[in-house]
Amino acid sequence: MIQMPPMSRQQLRSRLDTLPRVRIATIPTPLQEAENLSRELGVRILIKRDDLTGLVLGGNKVRHMDFCMADALEKGADVSIHVYGLTNNSRIIGAASKKVGMDYICIATGSYGSIDLKGRPFQGNLLIQDLLGADIRLLDTTDKDEISGYVEGIENQLRNEGLTPYNHVKEHMSRSSAVISYIDATLEIASQLDAINVDQVKIYIASGGGLGGLQIGAAALGLPWEILGVLIGTPEESFADVVGWSNNALKHMGFDQRMAWEDVVQTADFIGPGYGRISPACTEAIQMAAELEGLLLDPVHTGKVMAGIIDHARSGVIRQGQTVLFIHTGGLPDLFYFAEELQRS
Ligand SMILES: Cc1ncc(COP(=O)(O)O)c(C=O)c1O
Repeated sequence: MIQMPPMSRQQLRSRLDTLPRVRIATIPTPLQEAENLSRELGVRILIKRDDLTGLVLGGNKVRHMDFCMADALEKGADVSIHVYGLTNNSRIIGAASKKVGMDYICIATGSYGSIDLKGRPFQGNLLIQDLLGADIRLLDTTDKDEISGYVEGIENQLRNEGLTPYNHVKEHMSRSSAVISYIDATLEIASQLDAINVDQVKIYIASGGGLGGLQIGAAALGLPWEILGVLIGTPEESFADVVGWSNNALKHMGFDQRMAWEDVVQTADFIGPGYGRISPACTEAIQMAAELEGLLLDPVHTGKVMAGIIDHARSGVIRQGQTVLFIHTGGLPDLFYFAEELQRS
């Protein structure tokens, strides 16, 4: 666990309040009891509904945009550019850019797990970006050098036209904001748990910047939370640089402390066949959450996190009487790509 200097909630709030921010996310999001799921699994399960953050079907990344778009506006940017156009990040960057009056160039390359640009219908995150009026460029390569050369070409062209691009692949705040916004979410969750007299929780979240943010926030406030990151792909497939992003965020917030990989608690047990590839446990989790709670999960991230909760409840890793907090980070546009795998009959 990362060691942070002890801080009061007010001190952490004040530190966050010094950062530039535009209010994009609809927060606080609800923290709900999943009564039916709790009864089924024999442990108390709470759900933090970050799928309800407001913009284009919501998700964790809308929180990030409060800090990321403030950084882009401070830098005088008028066009956002992002690669990995099939992702939730791309959808939400696109929507937030439009919301603050910037244009958006989305570069969609090759594939995203089993979601391939070829042979899959033009829907999900891509369709939403199309509706947003994003300038979508389909690039038939996964070669990193070729992609960065292409992006550089676009940046140069925009500069020659007198515009200021904000390249989300290069700007550290595009990912540091994931950590910072979940340090912010720590305060929100802490007061929601206070309101229902819950002190200790075991938190399950898809591994990434948000995991880093919760770990830093909980350490700074001395909260007795156990926080588990669930890897949704192998590190090579879904390179989630929890440590690098967290350290950029810590530096940006003026903290001297740094995170090391030993501080990151995560499990690789629920990856299944790989990033963007659904597992039987994930299918069961998606069906169970829908049937018992009327709650939609996605097959790439949250379905695998819930598969972890189900497995840990059944196997006794989550102890009787322990309270679980599932962070629902959204990702719902991906659900419909997996109709064949998810259909019950
Ligand atoms: C639905 C969903 N959940 C969780 C994550 C992990 O995100 P982060 O690294 O921003 O914490 C992602 C990232 O793409 C996502 O799309």
